[in-house]
Amino acid sequence: MSFQSNISTSSPTFYQDLERECTGIIEGEKNLVANLANLSSLIYHALPDLNWCGFYLWSEEDMELVLGPFQGKPACIRIKSDRGVCGAAFSGQLPLRVDDVHAFPGHIACDAASQSELVIPLLKNDKVFGVLDLDSPRKSRFTVQDESELSRMMNLLSQKIF
Ligand code: SME
Repeated sequence: MSFQSNISTSSPTFYQDLERECTGIIEGEKNLVANLANLSSLIYHALPDLNWCGFYLWSEEDMELVLGPFQGKPACIRIKSDRGVCGAAFSGQLPLRVDDVHAFPGHIACDAASQSELVIPLLKNDKVFGVLDLDSPRKSRFTVQDESELSRMMNLLSQKIF
């Protein structure tokens, strides 16, 4: 299979196009790792100025977030629910947009290049399964629109994935 993405960042329908490609790529596949791997790749390559994009999944057994499929440099494997931006977004069950990671108390620096971060919790039936984590080497990279559109998209995709 060769995958050709047709998403243009400058298009007013960027997020609609991204959602369509994300929905399409998981269509008919039920393997969680495969779906999250393809989604992290699609999002990473579609959004400009990212140095990391991936998933942390909640382990009921270990009671912590565990690294899932991602794009970028190797990252920390386990995050407690009261640690870092990921833990805060997971526990609060709300997206967290951080303009300057160095100003966020408890931020976990996996890649020294990261300057700003957006974390979206993944929910289905009011239960939180993990988070999508996006890092950028540019301060204030993420907008209110990125936050709301990615939240909406991940909410839709979570119903199909989990
Ligand atoms: N910065 C995150 C840790 C994960 S890495 O960015 C991939 C945090 O503070 O939770």
